Amino acid sequence: MRNSEIKIVFIAGARPNFIKIAPLIREARKYQNIKPILIHTGQHYDWEMSKVFFEELNISEPEYNLNIGSGPHGWQTAKIIEKLEPILLKEKPDLVVVVGDVNSTLAGALVAAKLSIPAAHIEAGLRSFNKEMPEEINRLLTDHISKYLFATEPQAVKNLIEEGISKKSIFYVGNVMIDSLLRLKIKSKNLKFYEKFNIKPKEYAVLTLHRPENVDNKKTFKEILEAIGKIQNKIKIIWPIHPRTRKQLEKFDFCRKIKKMNNLLFVKPLGYLEMISLNVWAKLILTDSGGIQEEATIIGTPCLTLRKNTERPVTAVQGNNIIVGTNKKKIIAEAFKILNGNIKKGRIPKHWDGKASQRIIKRLNRLM
Ligand code: UD1
Repeated sequence: MRNSEIKIVFIAGARPNFIKIAPLIREARKYQNIKPILIHTGQHYDWEMSKVFFEELNISEPEYNLNIGSGPHGWQTAKIIEKLEPILLKEKPDLVVVVGDVNSTLAGALVAAKLSIPAAHIEAGLRSFNKEMPEEINRLLTDHISKYLFATEPQAVKNLIEEGISKKSIFYVGNVMIDSLLRLKIKSKNLKFYEKFNIKPKEYAVLTLHRPENVDNKKTFKEILEAIGKIQNKIKIIWPIHPRTRKQLEKFDFCRKIKKMNNLLFVKPLGYLEMISLNVWAKLILTDSGGIQEEATIIGTPCLTLRKNTERPVTAVQGNNIIVGTNKKKIIAEAFKILNGNIKKGRIPKHWDGKASQRIIKRLNRLM
């Protein structure tokens, strides 16, 4: 540890990044010798995909916004790199912190590596072993060019060691997403957001879908929608719809199909408190999100993951998550089991206690 000021640049760009960066910045501000600088890449920019998270999670205004916006993944990553490099050259931080697995994560780590600035990757080592997922490429590359790797679960540590990364660089600290969740869980619960839909607690399901492997593939998307059609005959389903998914529904001409599903209620993408509130009071969650699998493990609502695999195996091995894939019959069968009261019990993984960001910043302060 040294006596002079430590300048840390935190990079965030997409919705799940904001949830992860909030507790880290809050913790860093408690240290007099740490100067945090937040850079928003602008990968997500709609109010409901970005600003609402800054407000609800009480994240300070970013020092820089690169205002990148949407586009093909290679273009988006390249634009972030191009705009970030001069800022890091000017600021000369001692460390760059990147979180999660989005394009902004990889771009941030890459610029740091090229400038020989050490990077810390928060949520390192997760692997779906499916390189078709853009996030898998981001995870693999980010881990191999970052100096400090902070893991959320034991399997992530194993993955990194198997890839030849030195144990000295790996720290099993828990999950910063859960830090945000535990801080705002009671507030979200008390919001009772389900009342907006005139429904009762535990009498509805929540659906989220946005993975390209699901919504960009016509056959898979159709299969999932057919399962949803059956499930909504039994229980109301609230579907906060991601911009990518909304576009794909129109592109594949599925709108007429879903208009016939009277118990399927569409809503715009929700803020953090509203989303947690809905999930806490739901009977069932159907999702392809990574973060929601983890949040369901803590809040205890039964969760079906509509993917063939998960990079977060602890949510299924220890938590209440079930990986059902995208086969219509399988999704319906597992959903009906839950609606009939056959519910998988789970337990809370080690270090998912709301203190991961404390451990991370304390460790970084010692390492620098
Ligand atoms: C990104 C992440 C994904 C993460 C997800 C959370 C990558 C590769 N993917 O996926 O890991 O789970 O964020 O939401 O980084 N759009 C808007 N408004 C916005 C942002 C996007 O309308 O504020 C639309 C654009 O048309 C864009 C599309 O959504 O083309 C997809 O956005 P993009 O950032 O490319 O990826 P996501 O699917 O959001």
